Parts: sequence; structure tokens; C-alpha cells
Amino acid sequence: MKIAPHKIRTCFLALVMMTTLGLAQQESLAGERTVFFKYQDAAIVEQGKEVYKQNCASCHGTDLEGDPQWQVRRENGKLRAPPHDVSGHTWHHPEQTLFFLVKHGIVKLLNNKPYPNDMPIFGEKISDDEILAVLSYIKSTWPEHLQKTHDQLSAHTH
Ligand code: HEC
Repeated sequence: MKIAPHKIRTCFLALVMMTTLGLAQQESLAGERTVFFKYQDAAIVEQGKEVYKQNCASCHGTDLEGDPQWQVRRENGKLRAPPHDVSGHTWHHPEQTLFFLVKHGIVKLLNNKPYPNDMPIFGEKISDDEILAVLSYIKSTWPEHLQKTHDQLSAHTH
């Protein structure tokens, strides 16, 4: 089988980015409180749904479906809002990472490495509890097997 060179390049880039992100996370996540998503708590999930509607749906879609063009970069090079459902990659990141990202933004997650992006920083807009609630809501919509996978993925950061 012949693999097109541009595909190899994309895979390689993804690998480099994952590695860089992994290393950066270890340092920058330090100091932030340890969080556990309460995705089985109906009241918190309900609160999170409301937070989502008010703060996230405009970009990530009413049904967590993301921007219809999320896989196509903007002309300015920035990414569009990805889905938070199974088809996206939110579930690839541990709970601690997601909390940090929403609260402090992607650039801080990358240890202040310049990375122009359109994801807002929510730390001064909504409370920690609201961030936890919205992420719990997002996780509550995933199928059970994915929730379990995500629990395991998150365990080493707890
Ligand atoms: C103004 C549009 C906008 C709003 C509002 C917004 N986001 Fe985002 N979000 C983005 C974009 C664009 C990205 C992709 C950033 C990148 O990787 O360059 C993103 C990425 C993310 C990611 C990383 C996903 C992944 O797969 O890596 C998470 C988690 C996230 N957003 C959660 C939220 C939550 C929770 C809210 C509401 C509290 C929210 N976002 C509101 C635009 C937005």
C-alpha cells in the first residue's frame, strides 16, 4: 500500500503535537486544584447544560456537534470549534487537562507557547464550579464505554 506523503506528514505532526502537549501539561497543570467530573450527578449535569447553552453552544453547537467546518482551518490558520461529542477529541484529554484548558486557555496549557486560537479563557467569566458543571454535562452525554475509558485516562492525573 502506498501512503500519500501529505498523510505521513499529518500523522507526524499530530505525534509531535501530542508529545509537546504531554510534556507541557506536566509542568503547567501543577498548582491547579484536582477536579473530578460529576457526570453522574443529575443536578450538576443540569446546571452544566445551562452553562453550556449560555457560554459554549454558539461556537461548539447546540448539540455539541461543533462547527460544521471544524476540520477545515480558517484562512488565518486558526481552527474552528471542534465537537464535544464522540466524533471530536475532547474525550482524548484527561479531566484535569480539560478543566485547565477551559479555565486558563490553550496558550497557558502549552506553557505560554504562542498558539493563536479562538477558544476563550473562562477563568474570569465563570466560576470553577460552573466549569466543572459544564464539563460534567459534556461527559454525561458520552456513551458509557467512553466515560469509562475517560475515567481511566484521567486516573493518572488525579
Ligand atoms: C468563540 C468561540 C468559542 C466559545 C464560545 C467556546 N469555545 Fe471551546 N473552542 C473554540 C475553538 C475555536 C477551539 C479549538 C481551538 C484550537 O485548538 O485552536 C475550542 C476548543 C475547545 C476545547 C478543546 C477541545 C479538544 O478537542 O481539544 C474544549 C475542551 C473547549 N473548547 C471547551 C469549551 C467550553 C466548555 C466552552 C464554554 C464554557 C467553550 N469551549 C466555548 C471556540 C470556542
